[in-house]
Formats: sequence, structure tokens, C-alpha cells
Amino acid sequence: MQIGRDRQAMRDCVGGWRQAGAPVALVPTMGALHDGHMSLLSHARAWLDARGGGRVVTSIFVNPTQFGPNEDLASYPRDEEADLAMLRDAGCDAVFLPSVGDIWRPGAQIVVEVTALSRTLMGRLRLGHFRGVATVVTKLFNIVGPDAATFGEKDYQQLAVVRQMVADLDVPVEILPVPTVREADGLAMSSRNRRLSPAERAAAPVLSRALDRAGQMVAEGAGLSAIRAELRRIIGAEPLAHVRSIDIRDAADLSRIAKIRRPVVVLLTVSFGDVLLIDQRVADPK
Ligand code: PAJ
Repeated sequence: MQIGRDRQAMRDCVGGWRQAGAPVALVPTMGALHDGHMSLLSHARAWLDARGGGRVVTSIFVNPTQFGPNEDLASYPRDEEADLAMLRDAGCDAVFLPSVGDIWRPGAQIVVEVTALSRTLMGRLRLGHFRGVATVVTKLFNIVGPDAATFGEKDYQQLAVVRQMVADLDVPVEILPVPTVREADGLAMSSRNRRLSPAERAAAPVLSRALDRAGQMVAEGAGLSAIRAELRRIIGAEPLAHVRSIDIRDAADLSRIAKIRRPVVVLLTVSFGDVLLIDQRVADPK
């Protein structure tokens, strides 16, 4: 497994593969890897195998521009050694591990902002977050030059933002969505789960339980306000959980809806102490 610690090293590595005709798939991450990330790697590998084989590149970069001033940038978990061991075991071909200074250089003036999609939902709670994501993903695409890149459905709005960015800027990268990987008790895997206290960890599966119920209600034809009330009731019964937002949106474009006629996505943001967890479920009324 090759390790590129700056842009040039990464370009040289991928350049060699490209000359040999191998397609490349990128798995962008911020490290602290878990089985959810490994599922992205398997999807990338399957996509390449369907094209006769190729190379998987994983990027690990805790991107400061997507964290707000009061967010957990300093305490974001970092464990390079464990990450590299997992990637080696999973058969990753190269890892891009740039420094902050190599990605964010003084004097840069461009930002990439997917306008409306970045200002709704999580974008209202985390101002500037999706601008940071769209800009760094654009840069990663330009540095690595992949044919495809994987994104988890767990970060549903992020996936939508990246898809819109790629469509609007005519970026020649195929976006591969990957279903959410969960712990045995239903909790969506996340690097942030490590920061939960044992009591909070025990309470956290309430998100997926609530979403299961919401999915059931959508299938039974329940209305928006009844579903919202039920979600508040279920999560409210867990004293350590604090609902930050409950949204039910069109699953295709995250637009607001007045009535459930087509598939919807139910999006939850719930905090446990200072740890913010998100989860989502797509549900079909038919
Ligand atoms: P990070 O939170 O490390 O997540 C990297 C990728 O893994 C994202 O596409 C995310 O949706 C996916 N992922 C995380 N948990 C998952 C799970 N339980 N099941 C399936 N996929 C999961 O998201 C980011 O990093 C950053 O914003 C990034 C895109 C790298 C840009 O900085």
C-alpha cells in the first residue's frame, strides 16, 4: 500500500496507474476508520472489479474548513496507525494523508458552494459546513483524479451536496452511494460514537429505533405531524438524548413536502452531551 503525504506524491502515484490504464476509485474520509468506511472500500473495489480491476485510493484528512468555531475539530479522533492497518488489511492500494498546510495554502480565494442545498437542514445548524465539504471534495477530486468516489448514505445531505456539485460543475467522477452500516443494536457507525459515555452509548440506539417506527408509519400512510410527534415521543423518553432536529423531506432532492406522496427521507439530529449524532431512513408510502 502506497502512502502519499502531499499532493505531488499522490499525483505521481495515481499518474503511474493511469498510464497503465487502471481506473481509480477514491474513498474520502476523515480517518478514525470503522466498518462503515470499510464498506465504502468494498463498494469501490466492486465498482472497479466490474470494470476489469483498478486501484482504490483512500484519503484521510480532518478538514478544518468544514468544522464551525464551536465544533469538535480539536477533539476529532485521530489514529493514523490503526487506520493504516485497517486499510492494509482491506487491500487498499494507496492512502492520501496530506497536511492541513498542503491542502489549505495561504492566498487561496476559491470556495465551492452548492447554494440552496447547503443552507437547509444540517446546513442551518452548521453554517459553512457544506461549503467546506464541497470545496475539499472538489480539491481531493482534482488532486487524485478518480473515475468514481464513494459516499455514505448516512450523511444523506452530504451525498446530495456532492452529487449536485458534480452535476453543476461537470466533474467527470461517478458518485457511488453506500448504505449505512450499523452496530448490532442498530446504532449507525460513526467516529463520533467513541466520544459517547457508556450511558450515552447505551441510549444512542434510540435513533434507529425511532427511525424504524417512522418507516413503519410512512408505509401505513401516517401524516407528517403524527410521525414527527411519535419521533419526539420515542426520543423524548430517553433522558440523555436531546432532539436537535427532525425533518421529513423528499428523498430525491431534499425539498420540503406538504404531504407524503413519494419516497421520503426522515433525518434526525440528536445530541448526547456535546456529541451530535445523525441518522436517516428512506421510507416509501407504497
Ligand atoms: P467521514 O465522517 O470520515 O466519513 C467518510 C465517509 O464514510 C462519508 O462518505 C460517510 O458518509 C461514510 N460513512 C460514515 N459512517 C458510515 C456508516 N456507518 N455507513 C456507511 N458509510 C459511512 O464525511 C466525511 O468524513 C467528510 O465530510 C469528507 C466527505 C471526507 C470530506 O471531508
